[in-house]
Amino acid sequence: MTIGIIGAGHIGSALAVRLTSLGHTVYIANSRGPETLTDVAQRTGATPVTVQEAARQGELIVVTIPLKNIPKLPQDLFEGIPADVPVIDTSNYYPLLRDGHLPELESGDLTESEWVQQHLGRPVVKVFNNIYADHLENAGQPAGTPGRIALPVAGEGEAKQRVMALVDELGFDAVDNGNLHESWRQQPGTPCYGADLPATELRQQLASMGTERTAAQHAQFLANHAAQEKQMQAQGIQL
Ligand SMILES: NC(=O)c1ccc[n+]([C@@H]2O[C@H](COP(=O)([O-])OP(=O)(O)OC[C@H]3O[C@@H](n4cnc5c(N)ncnc54)[C@H](OP(=O)(O)O)[C@@H]3O)[C@@H](O)[C@H]2O)c1
Repeated sequence: MTIGIIGAGHIGSALAVRLTSLGHTVYIANSRGPETLTDVAQRTGATPVTVQEAARQGELIVVTIPLKNIPKLPQDLFEGIPADVPVIDTSNYYPLLRDGHLPELESGDLTESEWVQQHLGRPVVKVFNNIYADHLENAGQPAGTPGRIALPVAGEGEAKQRVMALVDELGFDAVDNGNLHESWRQQPGTPCYGADLPATELRQQLASMGTERTAAQHAQFLANHAAQEKQMQAQGIQL
């Protein structure tokens, strides 16, 4: 497959390494232009391009940039891109350390990827948001390996099925996490965020949360994540 990756940081680079090693052709972009991606190209085997070229080249597109920068992407980025090209969103909301406060996400009116989808004007599939970049690059295992890490995938239709197949190819069990409105169950602060659960446990955790987010769940997960962010801040971690 030809894959366009917008964002060449931790997740974009980790994905590029794995995808090129599987034989896919990868185009990668950042905000500063392809001439700044020589090191990334050397490390990953991906070809540096502009953001527009990454979107145009891909049979599958990954958007993996800080959430607050999603609205800064070109308005017409997906114009003319066939509807059957899946667009992956890996976003997480980090209000304290990076993104600032976004009222729609604080109120729980939208899930994080619904917010992204609204800004991109294009359906997205949410995946790779709940695993550390280092684990994404190094912890994949062949199908059937006991304890293989499972990743939740939220979205709709054929795009989600194609993304789930790619997740398996990358070395992880793909677990269907419903539609984008239900994707709150894989957001920061939930029991499956960064937990590297195998498929049986991940399915149990997702099922135990239900599908409609209650006000109490929303408050609890925001509070869990706020505590995690404060801890990270105290440790001097910068995103
Ligand atoms: N790090 C992790 O382990 C991890 C795990 C799961 C999910 N995530 C989530 O995945 C997303 C990406 O995280 P990350 O850690 O990979 O970020 P990162 O290391 O900070 O890299 C961000 C990348 O996005 C690019 N970028 C920023 N604004 C852009 C724009 N307007 N147009 C094009 N490119 C732009 C940056 O390019 P420039 O350098 O040129 O600005 C950089 O290459 C975030 O939502 C994050 O929360 C991260």
